[in-house]
Amino acid sequence: MLTGKTVLVGVTGGIAAYKAAELVSLLVREGTVVRVVMTAAATRFVAPLTFASLSGNPVACDLFAPAAGVHAHIDLAAAADLVVVAPATADFLAKAAAGLADDLLTTLLLACTRPVLLCPAMNTNMYRHPAVRENLARLARLGYHLMEPDAGRLACGTVGPGRLPEPARIVEHLAALCPRRDLAGYTVLVTAGATREPIDPVRFISNRSSGKMGFALARAALERGARVILVSGAAEVEPPPGVELVTVDTAEAMRSAVLSFAPECDLIVKAAAVADYRPARVADQKIKKDRERTLELVRNPDILQELGASKGNRVLVGFAAETENLLESARAKLTKKNLDLLVANDVSRADSGFGSDTNLVWLVFPEGPPQELPLMDKRLVAERILDEAAGILAGRRPTGSGLTGATDGHNH
Ligand code: CTP
Repeated sequence: MLTGKTVLVGVTGGIAAYKAAELVSLLVREGTVVRVVMTAAATRFVAPLTFASLSGNPVACDLFAPAAGVHAHIDLAAAADLVVVAPATADFLAKAAAGLADDLLTTLLLACTRPVLLCPAMNTNMYRHPAVRENLARLARLGYHLMEPDAGRLACGTVGPGRLPEPARIVEHLAALCPRRDLAGYTVLVTAGATREPIDPVRFISNRSSGKMGFALARAALERGARVILVSGAAEVEPPPGVELVTVDTAEAMRSAVLSFAPECDLIVKAAAVADYRPARVADQKIKKDRERTLELVRNPDILQELGASKGNRVLVGFAAETENLLESARAKLTKKNLDLLVANDVSRADSGFGSDTNLVWLVFPEGPPQELPLMDKRLVAERILDEAAGILAGRRPTGSGLTGATDGHNH
């Protein structure tokens, strides 16, 4: 997967800098072109010559070094297919989170439009410090990919999270981020976030969906070359730039948007948490506390089921949020809604489902055994879902067409 790609490895000044040497050597063995950029502090731990010897390329350390050229930060960023910073120190994370550009590495990050993976490594107390947590949360919102450090005995003697993950795992993570173009020529519609069903002008019924899973799917589909329509309810995260964004409020509005775009779509992924019920009447004025106390509810249409009933050649992926009998309920939903894939989500755990950055899911198919994915970042879950969807789409492509454009028999 990484063969032939150019990976820029940023090394910052922490004790784990020595492990970056193994990372570079593994990447070179994968057939990757590796360019190493070191911060000044990193050179206090490992000599640039080590990385130059392992990568076979000169190591860049200085924004102002004349030998690197005046546009080194732009050129290095443009040449890279992927960037990884390992280890990423607390100081580096703070700078990147603030958008500072006071050395070569921080500057080229701002110029970079490719996926960037940050691998924090530091003392456990530093890693748990609210300032570091805030910086990590901001970096995630800015679109950086983050790898959790391993827990264990650290160089300083502390036991806890903060260790740089094994280089082989970093390589695996990078391979998963490597932009594939297997959705080029396809139109993908993703729904995300929570619908809001108004009760009166100030109140509504909604749910805890953050939009993170749906937005990760939209971003990943875009990176894989698709035209992406994102129909979003309320969400806590910024929509990825480059998608066609349609914001909606209620389940009815989501239904109209989805059904109007559906004929243009090859793949529809329904990650949104749609309210199953809405108030039968929406009060014109704010309801006073001494008035009504009973809320009459009526059923909302099941958008996914409607799509399944007139599916045509489209690939349909649904989600199921469950707190019990996960697989049994998932299978029933897959059949009832005529889906190609159902992503069953255990929302009873704190590290999975609503609001969290990670997800623990099963992929359930119409045939064959379900697949359990390990607990992983929602962006990697998105990639795995799209791997399966792209496989199904490729199987539906008329044989021998060999085309990738809009006229190759897709459902346009
Ligand atoms: N869904 C939808 N329209 C609805 C309700 C749900 O399109 N009115 C879609 C969701 O986007 C999701 C899937 O259906 O992809 C499953 O939703 P889930 O939360 O599991 O609930 P339900 O199918 O409504 O089933 P139940 O409430 O019985 O668990």
